[in-house]
Amino acid sequence: MLSPLTYGLLPTSLLALLAVLPVGTAWSIFEPRQSKEKPLNQVLASQKSLSTYYELVKQYPDILLQLPSYSGVTLVAPNNDAFDKFHDWDPQNKTLVTNLLEYHILQGTVSTASVPVGVSTFAKTLLNDKKWSNVSEGQQMLINKGGDDVVVFTSGLGSRSTVVEADLAFTGGLVQIVDTLMVPPARLEPTTRDAYKDLQSFLGALYAADLVSEFADATDVTIFAPRNSAFQRIAGTLEDLDKKALADILRYHLIPNQVLSSTEFQNGTNLTTANDEIPDLTLHVTRAGNNVYFNSAQMLQPDILIANGVVHIIDAVLNPDARAATPDPAIGTQAPVFPVTGTKTAVGTKAPVPFTSDFPCTVDCPISTASSEPSGSADGAATTTTTGLRLSSSKGFAARCTGVPAQAGAAAAAAMLVGAVGMEFVGLV
Ligand SMILES: *[C@@H]1O[C@H](CO)[C@@H](O)[C@H](O)[C@H]1NC(C)=O
Ligand SMILES: *[C@@H]1O[C@H](CO)[C@@H](O)[C@H](O)[C@H]1NC(C)=O
Ligand SMILES: *[C@@H]1O[C@H](CO)[C@@H](O)[C@H](O)[C@H]1NC(C)=O
Ligand SMILES: *[C@@H]1O[C@H](CO)[C@@H](O)[C@H](O)[C@H]1NC(C)=O
Repeated sequence: MLSPLTYGLLPTSLLALLAVLPVGTAWSIFEPRQSKEKPLNQVLASQKSLSTYYELVKQYPDILLQLPSYSGVTLVAPNNDAFDKFHDWDPQNKTLVTNLLEYHILQGTVSTASVPVGVSTFAKTLLNDKKWSNVSEGQQMLINKGGDDVVVFTSGLGSRSTVVEADLAFTGGLVQIVDTLMVPPARLEPTTRDAYKDLQSFLGALYAADLVSEFADATDVTIFAPRNSAFQRIAGTLEDLDKKALADILRYHLIPNQVLSSTEFQNGTNLTTANDEIPDLTLHVTRAGNNVYFNSAQMLQPDILIANGVVHIIDAVLNPDARAATPDPAIGTQAPVFPVTGTKTAVGTKAPVPFTSDFPCTVDCPISTASSEPSGSADGAATTTTTGLRLSSSKGFAARCTGVPAQAGAAAAAAMLVGAVGMEFVGLV
């Protein structure tokens, strides 16, 4: 089994772990299958830039117990600089660290050489806790390789982690060292309200139609979210609809039970939407050059990961009564698929953004403060969230409101990381 040398390098917590590993496991993460493969602890110990990560792994060895049930894994190991950017968190919080580290382990061996250039690929992680993710079989992240062969991992809120040292082999797979922690994807609400503000109208419409839970709590969804100007252009028409009619339209933007990355949309295929009242209510996919259309709406920004799936931003509101609409790829903006009525058609940041008054509360809501709120009941600045983290920003819609659902653990971690690295998310430019 283990050579005395290997044995001597094992930290005590891993020694304890070894004692409970079943005899005759298919393979052991500590036992090289080939002579050139090193045990994980040796690989981690040999990298000075991974000392923080290695300490965490030693502190929470349970995470490694899962590895033998996969035929190969990829450890995404943030370097010490990455942890330095991740402020104000509690390494003793087992729930937090476990979920964070699980999001940093990919199912399968992903070598940088195997990543195709210019194609976004989803990879499943070991993150499965329902408090953090509602993607069955593991929350996802995105892998991209640019023309310069640099590999970037994209996670929640569009956060990017660059591989700075690639393909360190160990017995159970590969280690990829990255410069920034990956962010477990946040729920739909904070993603569309705060991170991608160009989707606020869409979120407001979901509130108006009582559909937030159907979109945000279901397991495995693909959502087509029209940008604000798409709602502005037909605001006059939309405001005349009753709740049921609005819901019928919005549910045509939801593909249940599937998390579809942009690369999976094949030309000429049909996607089944959530609106089951109308038979064969499908969306038709057209690819033309680099453009992808759903009916006649163009995909503007693909692959925004959320806690329960993925969001793709489109440039028009889809109409279930205009299912035959097809795009003319030769022109930039397709004809509207709703009647444009009334005078409310102005678009842009100066025009009103439809449905934002339907958010559960406004600035007029009672002010929530940390002292008057029980811990974890709101996601305001000085409030301790369910992750035990403190958010770094006191600004933002959520901080002023009491009616907004408490941020899930992942969202709080994301908000903290985003604050820590000073990123600003403005949605579409
Ligand atoms: C997952 O879904 C359940 C409801 O099925 C919900 O209570 C939970 O908050 C969701 N988790 C996240 C991270 O959104
Ligand atoms: C998609 O739906 C259209 C319209 O209903 C139909 O004509 C077409 O055959 C369908 N395509 C496939 C691949 O099922
Ligand atoms: C997509 O399908 C349409 C017809 O359904 C065809 O005209 C077009 O050439 C196809 N585009 C690609 C990129 O294959
Ligand atoms: C750690 O995080 C979890 C949720 O992620 C939270 O419920 C718990 O209160 C935190 N514990 C501490 C000690 O901060």
